[in-house]
Amino acid sequence: MDKFVVEGGYPLEGEVEVSGSKNAALPIMAATLLAPGKYRIFNVPRLRDVRTMAHLLRIIGAKVDIADHTLEIDTTLADFPEAPYELVRTMRASIYVLGPLLARFGRARVSLPGGCAWGPRPVDLHIKGMQKLGAEIDLDYGYINARSKQLTGAHIALDVASVGATGNIMMAATLAEGTTVIENAAMEPEIVNLGEFLQKMGARIHGLGTRRISIEGVPGLRPANFEVIPDRIEAGTFLVAGLITGGRITLRQAQPEHLSEVLSKLEEAGAQLSIDGSTIHLKANRPIRATHVTTAVYPGFPTDMQAQWIALMSLADGSSVVTDAIFPDRFTHVPELNRFGADIVVKNNSAFIRGVSALKGAPVTSTDLRASASLVLAALAAEGHSEVYRVYHIDRGYERIEEKLQKLGARIRREASELPY
Ligand code: EPZ
Repeated sequence: MDKFVVEGGYPLEGEVEVSGSKNAALPIMAATLLAPGKYRIFNVPRLRDVRTMAHLLRIIGAKVDIADHTLEIDTTLADFPEAPYELVRTMRASIYVLGPLLARFGRARVSLPGGCAWGPRPVDLHIKGMQKLGAEIDLDYGYINARSKQLTGAHIALDVASVGATGNIMMAATLAEGTTVIENAAMEPEIVNLGEFLQKMGARIHGLGTRRISIEGVPGLRPANFEVIPDRIEAGTFLVAGLITGGRITLRQAQPEHLSEVLSKLEEAGAQLSIDGSTIHLKANRPIRATHVTTAVYPGFPTDMQAQWIALMSLADGSSVVTDAIFPDRFTHVPELNRFGADIVVKNNSAFIRGVSALKGAPVTSTDLRASASLVLAALAAEGHSEVYRVYHIDRGYERIEEKLQKLGARIRREASELPY
């Protein structure tokens, strides 16, 4: 397994391009199962998770070619409606094939995702949604077995504005008989992007980006070409990298309006920001101001930026509290950040951070995607030598992150780890 070797303490300076959104690309790839034919999806990030979803589509019988940042998908021969455990356990987003398989083939056998590094990640809202659409579902040998001759439109009120459940139900509802209304729907830009793709395929969807989405079922959909939106979490991560190292960076090909809560928190923490279309300029100031954050569903502060924010606050001038109201256990990065000399205590679903004047390089181990990003940020800001192990986590969600950081002047390199992890 690879590790990153980092010499910290250098302010990041320069320009970096934002890649396409992982969390838009994955459901869009699954949506190609809804209609047989050829698709070209553009601005797809080159990530481990994209390769995993491509592998899953091939198991189902689709053809998938990854050419640079364009996916060529042909689902004409897709006919095996299964998502096996060994794939689903490596990527929870595999659950996104459930709705499309059920809608197109009338049956699906999808492994229940296991937990993840930070605790249980239920899929009860996905299952209830499919049942509301008329599917019969039983759980057997750790698999969801779903079948339905014809899905029928329904009124579905989500207990939680779940991103995944909204996406799965919306995809299934496109081919249901009658109209489906999803109340308390997710408003995340990635779900809006998925909905726009479905509309291009001929789906009749209203209310994207609001809490109430209605989908009028149609007898069939057709393939379409489509471009994925920029990754707002990658963008936010690089902006924090600029602020935590005291640098000055420019992000190109971003979509600032998807990031407004993060941008206003960055300003509160002392960053000087200016926006020019799809370009975001950040100039760091010192001190970093202590800034409390509580995560929320979109358009609130994203849980996927929580770990990165805690890394930033570990060097703030004063104390701050970061609360994760979405994933209460998502703090496995905290003990590792404390190895750099940060002063953080977790109680329930909040991290209490006392800013320190400097972090010191250390060997640390990543536990999950966004945790590993926060450890890289801390290593870039820490004085001296650090090693970040298990960087396969970061490769799931960040395209060539060390190359992008090197372009900004970071002293970071990837090496094979001599340790068994
Ligand atoms: C998506 O996960 C993202 N993944 C996550 O990003 C992100 O953290 C999360 O949304 C929240 O924004 C992808 O898009 C592939 P949820 P998802 O369903 O859909 C509860 C990353 O780093 N819930 O919105 O799994 C759940 O426990 C990843 O890129 C149920 O109770 O998240 C959580 O408390 C990590 N029952 C809340 O809803 C369900 O059936 C939000 O989860 C589903 C979810």
